Amino acid sequence: MTILSEAKQQYNAQPQPPASITADVNEASLVTMKGIASRVVLDRKNGTATKKYRRHILVRLLYWIAFQSSFPYICNRAALKAAEYRRRVAGLITKFFLGRDVVAPVLEVREGSDGFAFVTEYVEGTKPRDTKKARQFLGQISDAFIETGLPPWQVSPSNPRSVGNLIETEDGDYRIIDLESNIVTPMVPISGLWGAARDGHLPAFDDVDVPRLRAFVASHEGELRTTLGPSDYRDLQYAIDRYDYYETLWHSNEPRIWGRITRFVARALDFPGHARALRNRGRKSQVLQQEGGEQQTDSPHSTLNKEHCATC
Ligand SMILES: Nc1ncnc2c1ncn2[C@@H]1O[C@H](COP(=O)(O)OP(=O)(O)OP(=O)(O)O)[C@@H](O)[C@H]1O
Ligand SMILES: [Mg+2]
Repeated sequence: MTILSEAKQQYNAQPQPPASITADVNEASLVTMKGIASRVVLDRKNGTATKKYRRHILVRLLYWIAFQSSFPYICNRAALKAAEYRRRVAGLITKFFLGRDVVAPVLEVREGSDGFAFVTEYVEGTKPRDTKKARQFLGQISDAFIETGLPPWQVSPSNPRSVGNLIETEDGDYRIIDLESNIVTPMVPISGLWGAARDGHLPAFDDVDVPRLRAFVASHEGELRTTLGPSDYRDLQYAIDRYDYYETLWHSNEPRIWGRITRFVARALDFPGHARALRNRGRKSQVLQQEGGEQQTDSPHSTLNKEHCATC
């Protein structure tokens, strides 16, 4: 048997790509999935899925119109670190709601000469066999995300590509393998609209409503501690703080004109929110101080700021 036919045989055992994705075989244990705006190298042997975003004209144009900045998941380390902690939070939230963590975690944000790679845990399985069942599962996840302030678009049953963000495992369960959007999200839940305007998250792009998430954690503290256990509960708090830090860093380097305008208007009208914001600011500056000591290069004010890679 030739190496090529052996590799093809291995490829056939891999999760099958959605219609718009083509795949080719690199080596026996590596498979490359090509999406519209990204390329994912699946490495079964090492248990990794390494995603690199490509410079897609439409994706970049839409992001620029919305935020007047370049698409963040290519060259903005803070945006990818925020994505890493968003996945950790999402995983723990699914553990709370479903009794199991169903989100493939991020293993590394790796810098290369032409941008960053996002290395996640490889999930063995196939694309969902029963689309209706997969959509029901997505409905559960999406409800949990909306309730806790996580961005629901990537797992929304009304997103035509969301089933492709799931892998069905051998035991018939699902795991979420993609939580990062390519395009500016056309959907914000009604319940999160005010929070999104107040936080400058309009237009929306993978933003967590952090005040809503913190309020959920505070009001369910007892149940969360019991369901997650003390270690994961601490981890949840830590992941929320880190997400908040990296999101602030990411957004502070983008003009975000529309978001600033809506935030200005919403905040001017939000009198009860003024008192709450003062309380949160105290907490956030504490975290930023700790982070500043720990990771000087990440500071928005640091001369060593390596926020963007050399090519951007
Ligand atoms: N962690 C993983 N484990 C196993 N397979 C994965 C993993 N991550 C991605 N894949 C495979 O790569 C394909 C594309 O991944 P992903 O959804 O992240 O890319 P995408 O650019 O968002 O594509 P699309 O626009 O179609 O959603 C998935 O359908 C899946 O088959
Ligand atoms: Mg996807």
